[in-house]
Amino acid sequence: MKILSIDTSCDETAAAVTEDTTILSNIIWSQASLHNKWGGVFPSLAKRAHQERIDFVVNKALQSAKCKVQNTDAVAVTVGPGLSIALEVGISKAKELSTKYRKPFIAVNHIEGHLLSCLAQPRNPKYQTQVVTSNSHISFPALGFIASGKHTDLVLVKGIGEYKIIAHTIDDALGEALDKAARMLGLGYPGGAILEKLAKEGDENRYNLPIPMLGRENQFEFSYSGLKTAFWRLTENQKPLTKNKIQYLAASFQNIAFVHVERLVKKALEKHKVKSFLFGGGVSSNIELRKRLRKICLKEGVVLHLPYSKKLCTDNAGMIGVAAYFKSLRNEYEHEIEKVDRLPNAKIDQQFTWE
Ligand code: KG4
Ligand code: ZN
Repeated sequence: MKILSIDTSCDETAAAVTEDTTILSNIIWSQASLHNKWGGVFPSLAKRAHQERIDFVVNKALQSAKCKVQNTDAVAVTVGPGLSIALEVGISKAKELSTKYRKPFIAVNHIEGHLLSCLAQPRNPKYQTQVVTSNSHISFPALGFIASGKHTDLVLVKGIGEYKIIAHTIDDALGEALDKAARMLGLGYPGGAILEKLAKEGDENRYNLPIPMLGRENQFEFSYSGLKTAFWRLTENQKPLTKNKIQYLAASFQNIAFVHVERLVKKALEKHKVKSFLFGGGVSSNIELRKRLRKICLKEGVVLHLPYSKKLCTDNAGMIGVAAYFKSLRNEYEHEIEKVDRLPNAKIDQQFTWE
């Protein structure tokens, strides 16, 4: 099953060709440098950049996969969650291609894409060394953790397509919190990866920061706003910031942000007896958090699954192709594509409904 997929949910213009769960091509044109000076994504700028780049990215994905739209079996696109005016660009391109080439149309939830990115297989077996565990034999039920710039969700996965959100953030997402902390330290956007690099050089115990929701893990909620405020105060008190101080601050913030994740994941694994743990989303490329979650999973006898490459962690269309493949197996095609519309607040555990 060959699928051409598109994702324009935020600030990456992305297209991919997949064959079942194998990634044949995965093209991403990041807009990070455009949004850098705003310290976040500027929606109208994102829309314009998507419009300018979408044809190039789609053609490049087809070329890299040595394929034409005519030879694909379906066209898939992210319909949400994401920025409305950005989603719109990908959806109208997918509709155009599906109509022109008479290809079945599959609408995909971006978060399901991140979750199932752990099931993606590399085209070239030589890259299999990057696979942390065998992705092809995931046992269910599983616990999914999706941590990105907008989401921090723990999802109970009974099987592919059967999801229940068991924890989400009540304020900032984990990636967003890392981005904001990086900004307070005068670093670039997106800040998660920059913070990770600096944190490696710093002592994470140098400063005291409050662990979010301490003792209230049973509520199954993530929260980063209190930590963010405490970090802002600490940073102000430490000014002027030297290179060493920035490293210590980065390490301290990252540590406490991750301790919060560890505590909630442990609680979730105690409560829900699962066999596998799927970790996806931009933050899943963080080596330190991978290490900590691997340790917890080992202790609990749960198999940890990660995307086989960092390119599959941040926004990309390859993961949308993988999610679309499983939807095709369930016959979940859209038959009235004129009704398909952007769903900026779509939830992974809710069916799409069009007006
Ligand atoms: O999934 P993603 O590309 O976009 C959204 O759907 O939001 O995630 C982007 C987020 C950003 O907040 C970025 O700082 C974070 O992922 N991120 C990281 C790392 N690489 C990207 N956070 C921590 N460590 C990293 N290495
Ligand atoms: Zn994302």
